[in-house]
Amino acid sequence: MESKVKKIGVLTSGGDAPGMNAAIRSVVRAARYRGIEVVGIRRGYAGLIAGDTMELDVRDVSNILHAGGTMLYSARSKEFCTEEGMQKAIAVCKEQGIEGLVVIGGDGSYRGAGDLSARGIPCVGIPGTIDNDITSTDYTIGFDTCINCVVDMVDRIRDTMRSHERCSVVEVMGRHAGYVALHAGIATGATFVMVPEVPSSVVDVIKKIEEGRKLGKSNFIVIVAEGVGNAEDMSRYIQETTGIVTRATILGHVQRGGSPTSRDRVLASQYGNFAVELLAAGKSNRVVGMRKDELVDYDLHEALAMKKEFPMDLYNMSDIISI
Ligand code: F6P
Repeated sequence: MESKVKKIGVLTSGGDAPGMNAAIRSVVRAARYRGIEVVGIRRGYAGLIAGDTMELDVRDVSNILHAGGTMLYSARSKEFCTEEGMQKAIAVCKEQGIEGLVVIGGDGSYRGAGDLSARGIPCVGIPGTIDNDITSTDYTIGFDTCINCVVDMVDRIRDTMRSHERCSVVEVMGRHAGYVALHAGIATGATFVMVPEVPSSVVDVIKKIEEGRKLGKSNFIVIVAEGVGNAEDMSRYIQETTGIVTRATILGHVQRGGSPTSRDRVLASQYGNFAVELLAAGKSNRVVGMRKDELVDYDLHEALAMKKEFPMDLYNMSDIISI
C-alpha cells in the first residue's frame, strides 16, 4: 500500500532512555523501506521550534543500535507549551514538508504530540522512559536496561554489606513512580522497597529489619525510590535506632545511561517500525505500546487518561519473600 505521507520527522524528548537510538534507527529504516523521507529533529520540541533538523538516511543511523542516550539529543521545552511556540513548530513542519512526526518520550512528550495532532500535524508516540510509568504500555524503552543496571550495582553493594554485616539504603530513580525500585528490589532480594505509590515510613523499614535480625539475617538492603525519601537521612535514622552500621548510596544518572539490553533493543525496533506503519497508513494522534507481548496502539488522549494500577501483588510478594 502506498504511504499516505512522504516525509516524516523523528524526535526524542524528556529524560533520555537507553534504546532511544535503536528506536530512531528503526524509524529511519522502516520509513526508507516504504519510500518515506526522514528528518531527525535535534533537542526535542525546542529543536522543532528552532528548525534544527537533519536529513536521516539508512547509513546515518548505522552503529547506534547499541549506544545509550540519543543521537538526536533530548530537551524539555517551556516555549513549546505556549500557543506561540506550538505555532512556530507547525510553521517549521510546513516549511520543511514534514507530514508526520514520531515522538519518542514520556507522558509530557505525549501531551505535546497530542497538541500538534490536534493542529493538523499527525503524530505517533513511542514510550521511552526508564520509569516505565506510561499507562498505555506494559514496557517502555529503557526500563529493562535501567533495572539491570540497578541490579548490577546493588549486587556489588550487597557483597560488601555482607562482609561487614551492614545495612545499605540505595536510592534509585523514579520521582513519581516506583517500578524501578520494585523490580530492582525483587531482583536483588531487598529487605524493604519504598515507592511513591505505597505509603510507608522508616519505622516500617526498621520493623522489617528487626524481624529479619531475629531470623538470623545480618545484612540488609533497603531500596528507596527518589520521590519517597532521602537515603542519607534514612541511613542515619536506621543506624541510630538499630545500631547496625548503615550506609547510603544514591545511584543517580548511572541508571539512565549505558548500552541497551537486547530486550530494549528489540522493543525499540518494534515500536519504531510500528509507528512508521501507522503514519504511512494515514493515522494520527496514536501511541504505540506492548500488551501481553502484543504490539498495540491507542488514541493518544485515551492513553493519557488511562490509570496505571501499581502491581500490588508484586509488591506484597516482594515483602513476603524478603524476610
Ligand atoms: O523520567 C526519568 C527520570 O530519570 C526520573 O526517574 C527522574 O526523577 C528524572 O528523570 C530526573 O530528571 P533529570 O535528571 O532530567 O532532571
